[in-house]
Amino acid sequence: MSRRRVLTGSGAAALAAGTASVGPLLWVPPASAAVRPGGVHLMYGKNPKHRMAVSWSTPAGVRRPRLELGLDRTYGLTVPAESRSTKDLGTVYHHVDLRRLRPGTRYHYRLSHKGASPVTGTFRTAPKVQRPFRFAAFGDMGVNAAAAAHVALIRRMRPKFAFVVGDLCYADTSGGTGVGGPQTQDFRVWDQWLNQIQPSAGHVPWMTTVGNHEMEEGNGELGYSGYLDRFQLPGNGVKGAPVTYSFVHGNVGFIALDGNDASYEISRNLDYLGSAQDQWLRRELAEMRSDPEIDFIVVGFHNCMYCTNLVHGSDGGNRSRWEPIFDRYSVDLVVNGHNHCYERTHPLRDGAPVIEAPRGAVIDSTRGTTYLTAGGAGQAVYPTGGRPISYVSIEGGVRVPETTEWSALTNEVHSVAFLDAVPRNKRGVAKLKLTALSTDGKVIDRLTLKRRR
Ligand SMILES: [Fe+2]
Ligand SMILES: [Fe+2]
Repeated sequence: MSRRRVLTGSGAAALAAGTASVGPLLWVPPASAAVRPGGVHLMYGKNPKHRMAVSWSTPAGVRRPRLELGLDRTYGLTVPAESRSTKDLGTVYHHVDLRRLRPGTRYHYRLSHKGASPVTGTFRTAPKVQRPFRFAAFGDMGVNAAAAAHVALIRRMRPKFAFVVGDLCYADTSGGTGVGGPQTQDFRVWDQWLNQIQPSAGHVPWMTTVGNHEMEEGNGELGYSGYLDRFQLPGNGVKGAPVTYSFVHGNVGFIALDGNDASYEISRNLDYLGSAQDQWLRRELAEMRSDPEIDFIVVGFHNCMYCTNLVHGSDGGNRSRWEPIFDRYSVDLVVNGHNHCYERTHPLRDGAPVIEAPRGAVIDSTRGTTYLTAGGAGQAVYPTGGRPISYVSIEGGVRVPETTEWSALTNEVHSVAFLDAVPRNKRGVAKLKLTALSTDGKVIDRLTLKRRR
């Protein structure tokens, strides 16, 4: 591939888009060349075949932050970055939103600014034709030894991307409760986290959602300003809620919701979107279900709809808002975090198990929705399993006991879930295979979802 084709070939040219204005401040950088780009992380745009956002940071303002892009290390295209400063920190975050990329193509990038020694990397866009692919799913990572080990595990497992369901770094340990005041905040932790994940996130997209710990007191009305400074999100979600989005990869549709908008347990941002998020969710699901290319639908958000762990239990707010919608559109898999453990339900309809799905089961996913708690990605685990009786938080945060016959399997070790999507075979059967691994790579759960068209 010649450099000329990268720049001008049909549909091949990468163009930088003006990035959405989500609270960037006008930045006038001092001359500072000694700082090096760090915290590199990628995010797909709304169409992963053609769009990728590359984000990075420098510990201070820099002149002419830019990305060079090409099909080899001669690069060829230079794109200036949009820079955003953030609250209480000198770090500046740089973003480039690349469009019109070629599908299934490996790109080389180089990040630099005036006088800097550059940082290089590669990424691959989603393929044009359906192929088997793997993604990682988890939440509640933080900055710690287990989290670092999981970044290495994720690299070894070679997913195409990670679907990260909130509670990313814990720069605000109050977790949206407001308890403890400003001393619960240390925004330097964001940069430690972004540097920790760079070995993976600098090469494959980390598609993040917000957890309760992304609601940072004093950081914007919703507390999301710090998150929005650091991530260049796809921007195709609910109007006024850039933390929500959807995308399609191969035969799987993904929807990232804001679980805080529906949480009875931690109600700081309850109902700021309300029916607007529900209507958007219904529209997305209807569109995905009518798309002949999509077999499976995976929805991700932070709060647990079904988890027996006694620290947070299950959230009745998320249940009441979204369970009827998930049932109606036959969502295959819901990924949650929040409880720092692993748990998986049997397939459910209207809150009741419809099939037994022990470890290793192969199930017809049209029968019911499987709920996964994958909150064991690094923060201290919660060794407090609640089966056979746990509780659900109802309106007002009141915890009501309930039996938990919906729970198929719990595990209280650190873990990361991996999912392998397999396109339809000759008989029209597609598969989504779950493998949950502990930090040392041991299998703690397996499940195969099947769907026939
Ligand atoms: Fe958490
Ligand atoms: Fe949480």
